[in-house]
Amino acid sequence: MADTLTITDNRTGKTYQVPIESGSIKAMDLRQIKAGADDFGLMTYDPAFQNTAACRSKITYIDGDKGILLYRGYPIDQLAEDSTFLETAYLILFGELPKAGELDEWTRKITMHTMLHENIKKFMEGFQYDAHPMGIFLSTVGALSTIYPDAKKIHDEDVRRLQILRLIAKVPSIAAYAYRHSIGRPYIYPDNDLSFTGNFLNMLFKMTELKYRPHPVLERALDILFILHADHEQNCSTSAMRGIGSSQADPYSALAGAAAALYGPLHGGANEAVLRMLQEIGSVRNVPAFIQKVKGGDGRLMGFGHRVYKSYDPRAKIIKKTADQVFSITGRNPLLDIALELERIALEDDYFVSRKLYPNVDFYSGLIYQAMGFPVDMFAVLFAMARTSGWLAQWDEMLRDPDQKIARPRQLYIGAARRDYTPMSAR
Ligand SMILES: CC(C)(COP(=O)(O)OP(=O)(O)OC[C@H]1O[C@@H](n2cnc3c(N)ncnc32)[C@H](O)[C@@H]1OP(=O)(O)O)[C@@H](O)C(=O)NCCC(=O)NCCS
Repeated sequence: MADTLTITDNRTGKTYQVPIESGSIKAMDLRQIKAGADDFGLMTYDPAFQNTAACRSKITYIDGDKGILLYRGYPIDQLAEDSTFLETAYLILFGELPKAGELDEWTRKITMHTMLHENIKKFMEGFQYDAHPMGIFLSTVGALSTIYPDAKKIHDEDVRRLQILRLIAKVPSIAAYAYRHSIGRPYIYPDNDLSFTGNFLNMLFKMTELKYRPHPVLERALDILFILHADHEQNCSTSAMRGIGSSQADPYSALAGAAAALYGPLHGGANEAVLRMLQEIGSVRNVPAFIQKVKGGDGRLMGFGHRVYKSYDPRAKIIKKTADQVFSITGRNPLLDIALELERIALEDDYFVSRKLYPNVDFYSGLIYQAMGFPVDMFAVLFAMARTSGWLAQWDEMLRDPDQKIARPRQLYIGAARRDYTPMSAR
């Protein structure tokens, strides 16, 4: 029978018809398969959700084998070439490219919301002088929920839209203040004459000059990096955003959780880890020995491998091109030679080839950020800033989806069977 999976239970001899839709079966359709009268029903065991679709989504499409990434159907390379981050954020959030008037209005509204409440500034001043900016970022985003209690009305579309504007507008201010705090410089207020990314550079790097003027090549390069990081379907942090949002928490709290997931070295911390790895290798000479160490199971080649991409990450290709443009302004990052040599050897080595391990987006992004003057601690914050648009789009999509409920995976219990409490004297 077409589009149906027939399952025969060898224990009972029963057969079941399970419909196949969009290349998947519904896990709940397996519940009808029971071993005995009081059996709960068959479950699937899928640690780390490697083969489980938790939602239907119209936002981002990835073909990991072919190295394809589309936002709302548009290829990432075309967006990186022709779009801006704010336009791409609009596309991701609302589904279509904006018309000229819509983009103007969107840009104007975002620009109006860039200021942080003075209490938030004071809150940020309370962090240790050497606090990691990502720790400051995620705590401050969470703290915004106390400033905007209206955000709890998550079923009100207008309220949701206002929080989306606030969050996209304010994350650059939070990110910049986190950076200024960590180096002991005064906070710089937003400059509404500048572009989204130009203003971000202003809030980061302005010193005593009356007007900060971002270098157009660096401003564009950073904008492209933001486009590349804007969404990436159901990754660890996006799943956290959806998971927390499914309990109907406000978006600031959910986004703080998503940012916390991004903090880990296997996710948003990866480009920081790449830089530390390149520094540890120290010289092109040491690359073969380092590769041997990784192949022996001692550590990983950071910036390589991906849960979904089993070919060259399409974002890594664009980043390599952007790196050349940035280095032509800032000078070549001395770690680039080590990275190029690592890539060259790894792409020829059977260990990496057979496991389909290719450079991912983080392999080169850290080198660009470092050349632009960002300390490594800031890398994940830059990622979080860009991904805020994707997190919010996914959160909004989840809240509109009638199939969704509070996220609650099942478990296979493998602990002790029921037993009686043992008094202390008998243990
Ligand atoms: C991204 C990542 C977490 C995906 O992991 P995953 O899908 O769970 O893949 P696995 O951990 O199952 O790896 C599969 C195999 O490749 C190896 N492998 C994966 N990434 C590797 C890397 N970067 N260096 C060396 N070996 C790696 C694993 O050891 C494993 O080998 P085995 O089959 O002999 O045990 C993983 O590739 C990684 O840790 N990469 C480095 C961190 C990074 O760059 N993260 C940013 C992602 S955008």
